[in-house]
Amino acid sequence: MRMGRTMALMGGLIAGFCVPVAVSARENVVRLAGGIEVRDGRMLLRVDALADDLLRVRIAADGRLPEDASWAVPEDVRARRVAVRPLGDARTPGFRTATLAVRIASDPLRLIVEDGEGRIVSADAIAAPIAMQGRAFALRKTMPPSEHYFGLGDKTGPLDRRGGAFVNWNTDVGRFGEATDPLYKSIPFFVATGGEGGSYGIFLDNTWRSWFDFGRREQDVLAFGAVDGPIDYYLIHGPSLRRVTERYADLTGRPPLPPLWSLGYQQSRYSYMSSREVREVAARLRRERIPADVIWLDIDFQDRNRPFTANPRTYADLPQLAAELRDDGIRLVAITDPHIAEAPGENYVPYDSGVAGDHFVKATDGRPFVGKVWPGASVFPDFTRSATRGWWGRLYAGLVEAGIAGFWDDMNEPALFETPSKTMPLDTMHRIDTPGFARRNASHAEIHNLYGMQHSRATFEGLQALAPERRPFVMTRASYAGGQRYAATWTGDNGSNWSHLKLSVAQLLNLGLSGFAYSAVDIGGFTGGASPELLTRWYQIGAFLPLMRNHTAIDAPRSEPWVDGAAHTAIRRRFIEQRYRLLPYLYGLADENARTGAPLMRPVFYDYPQALSAPCDQSMAFLVGPGLLVAPSPTPESPQRYRICLPGQRWFDYWSGLEAEAERGESAKAGFVIVHETPALGRLPVFVRGGTILPLQPLVQSTAQAPRGPLSLHVYPGEDCNGLLYADDGTSLDHGRGRYLRQTLRCNVATDGLTLSFEQRAGDYVPWWRRIEVIVHGWRGAARVELDGKPVAATADASKQTLRFEISDQPAPAMLELRREE
Ligand code: GLC
Repeated sequence: MRMGRTMALMGGLIAGFCVPVAVSARENVVRLAGGIEVRDGRMLLRVDALADDLLRVRIAADGRLPEDASWAVPEDVRARRVAVRPLGDARTPGFRTATLAVRIASDPLRLIVEDGEGRIVSADAIAAPIAMQGRAFALRKTMPPSEHYFGLGDKTGPLDRRGGAFVNWNTDVGRFGEATDPLYKSIPFFVATGGEGGSYGIFLDNTWRSWFDFGRREQDVLAFGAVDGPIDYYLIHGPSLRRVTERYADLTGRPPLPPLWSLGYQQSRYSYMSSREVREVAARLRRERIPADVIWLDIDFQDRNRPFTANPRTYADLPQLAAELRDDGIRLVAITDPHIAEAPGENYVPYDSGVAGDHFVKATDGRPFVGKVWPGASVFPDFTRSATRGWWGRLYAGLVEAGIAGFWDDMNEPALFETPSKTMPLDTMHRIDTPGFARRNASHAEIHNLYGMQHSRATFEGLQALAPERRPFVMTRASYAGGQRYAATWTGDNGSNWSHLKLSVAQLLNLGLSGFAYSAVDIGGFTGGASPELLTRWYQIGAFLPLMRNHTAIDAPRSEPWVDGAAHTAIRRRFIEQRYRLLPYLYGLADENARTGAPLMRPVFYDYPQALSAPCDQSMAFLVGPGLLVAPSPTPESPQRYRICLPGQRWFDYWSGLEAEAERGESAKAGFVIVHETPALGRLPVFVRGGTILPLQPLVQSTAQAPRGPLSLHVYPGEDCNGLLYADDGTSLDHGRGRYLRQTLRCNVATDGLTLSFEQRAGDYVPWWRRIEVIVHGWRGAARVELDGKPVAATADASKQTLRFEISDQPAPAMLELRREE
């Protein structure tokens, strides 16, 4: 009877997974100090509590768990356990942690996770919770109507994954569209929010081709699975979304603090064809007074597209070019794709040394697999071997010595030309030989989704070894969960159209929720050529993205900031300048990310859960840290007025500094300040939460210049008012040895004014500023200001509603009192 019902459901509901697992009477329950093991027939279900809010779930259809190894989750993290208590219900096996109750129901075997109050966090579906077909598996869970899903990296589609279905298989899609799937990365992690038990996340640690279905095939069923590999997933309970992303970062790692220069403006093109052209671009950036920190060298800087070479004619003076640009505050980032030209007898060191060290992926005949990419016939390093990663890392010596500051790992899905699969055959052989793994051969089907991650790992670790005192900067196109430890990323070959501008905001937000806090999109679009308006809008939004890089295809019109005449250049310059002024704030967010994993760019509901049900179209709105809300039009190509929902009580217009006032007739809606915006080309609405202390710096043309003048602290009074100062030398690892500056600032609104306090500064880094200019917004009337009891001269400006004064730097705890005077 039961079998019949299960069969019917599965046949109708999960096509391709029509062999139900026989579930007989439960045979065995083993209680573990930090979890439980339940056997049901041949099947084994094991749940370990790594922390009170973090479970690892493993299922073995044949009763034997596979090797406990992972590319994403380090061994010491997997080994963590907390003590658990029995459920207290003799009939149901399970356990409690301090915050969760884990029940294993039977008939069929299924997992139910509740919070301490008995609210369901996540529950397996009653029908066919675990289905096997050969080595493929599908897991089904219930999907409450109120729940929304985010993550899975930069997959296309709307921000919310609900109603969507996605495949993880790293693919160089070429010119991707709004619904193309799969794309370049596989990050099998999603967060769910809006359910009764609060936010949670699920990370399926499986590198094979996997899939997620959020109610697309079956309404109200959340399903995921893979074609092979371990059934091994982690369930993280928040209950806040922030807590889920922080926990996911504990599990798979945080991006290291990047070099400060990578937060500056970056100019790229496929390709700047000669060092002369690079000099021209650099000179133009400076002449136009467009702040910039980086110029990128795409494949044509190489000799015949061969990685680790420079074109002897067009880039003969690479070291000199790098040195000259460095003097001008511009660094070079160069491409180093994984394919190595198959060039025997040509003194091409990467090929010769790779063959000598047996470093290449093997075809079934035991010889290096050869496929066609940019250099023509190419071979591919087997990055699953530590020896190969070490060899790869050493290949960077020449480029590092030439003064190249960062590296770009592209085409590492791996991409292949002239083959329908766009990649190597699935039976190509890798030879896993890495600490933490049993040594064994593994097919490309298992390794494919990892290839880009291990490529960027080899690059990152190579740079660490070559320049141990410098923070590596690596950008990768393909990756897997945990790849954020090694590289930033970008969204690949997008199009120059309005829908791609829209898409990019959702892509970067979902990347941030998936651990990749440092992400970029080709500003203006890679292919097709942007209209002047589109490019200007893209620059405006780009100024607030985690990384800001303009890049275009070889056959696309140029898209440097100045290509559309003076009026557009002026707007683009103004926004790039704002980014540079905001650097102290952005760098503070980078420090926060390195410590907690919280993304720099985040959806509005990350810090304001009520925004999930905002009565506005929020599809383009995003936060930069908790303090800035950027609100482009949801239809950015349209001149139509639109509404912006600012969650909470008090927001200020970033540009005017004035408090945002609710539009008439909108004030009735509780929980939001609703304003209206009529689009104008030169404007992008940005708001600051009342309760923010925003540090800004004087304008520089590059992060290599020390700003001149005081640090500005803009105080926007409101609840829970705080700010963070973070500074260090921007490039070295000295911050890990105490050479940093971290200081919390707080303000308190009182009836007759405001207090502003500087807490004790941590670290001994001496910053560039000597003086601090304080600008209090929303201030009416004259004021008396005292710093630790001593008067400070202050100027009130009635039209701007500001109070302004200057004080010296405050490394020690200090208190400012601002009293309103009639
Ligand atoms: C790929 C990259 C693109 C790059 C090109 C040439 O298409 O995605 O950014 O410009 O290769 O290297």
